[in-house]
Amino acid sequence: MKRPLFVANWKMNHTIGETIAYLTVLLHEAKAVGNTDVVLAPPFTALSSLGIALSENNSEFQLAGQNLCWEDSGAFTGEISGAFLAEVGCRYVIIGHSERRKIFGETDAMIGKKIEASIRHHLTPILCVGETLPEREAGKAWDTVENQLRGALREIPLAKLKGFVVAYEPVWAIGTGKNATPAEAKDMHGLIHQWIASVHGGEVADITRLLYGGSVTPGNSRELLRQPHIDGALVGGASLDARKFTEIIRSVP
Ligand code: PGA
Repeated sequence: MKRPLFVANWKMNHTIGETIAYLTVLLHEAKAVGNTDVVLAPPFTALSSLGIALSENNSEFQLAGQNLCWEDSGAFTGEISGAFLAEVGCRYVIIGHSERRKIFGETDAMIGKKIEASIRHHLTPILCVGETLPEREAGKAWDTVENQLRGALREIPLAKLKGFVVAYEPVWAIGTGKNATPAEAKDMHGLIHQWIASVHGGEVADITRLLYGGSVTPGNSRELLRQPHIDGALVGGASLDARKFTEIIRSVP
């Protein structure tokens, strides 16, 4: 198995004060999580304080941005560049989350440019893909995911990347309490692995970590993580509680 990776996507939750309080609990609970990468994606405003607190505690937990702009600087009111994320210590960035696609109108072309920007700033991209319920019900789940992969990654030489992460997050499972079954997740992860191997080569596929996301909880994580090609999880709601997030991290089989 690849080195497991767990990403806490807090979305628009937790002030700086709450972030520091959370870290105190997490450092206590998840002291010896072993051979696992643990990444926290707080709101932009908390990144700097969290980065400082992590290094003061000699913690190996890492930071991620929840989004970035495809440009590096300039007249882009309200945007955050990869340079700024790198400056506060981010190693990862989440790109193309379904909430960004749906609520903020991000297209595959924009997402492709964001991936290029993340590479320029040495941030490991966590590309989110996933189908809606009507797409799944119409038997088009894989077509949707393949289009998203193709749209975002066509121009990008993944072989040049040190690490690349894809998070399969069925839209109908995000924040709904309704996770994909282990079999559904296994099928999709297998197809994503095959697609990466056929387009970018087997070696790239073998080092690209694939995360499952969508209503992951301590109650369902173990069974999901047992499936082939599920190398970790992108966790929203359950990651807001440091104890629950730790239980999920510990459920690696
Ligand atoms: P959820 O969110 O765990 O609350 O379903 C996952 C995500 O949106 O990344």
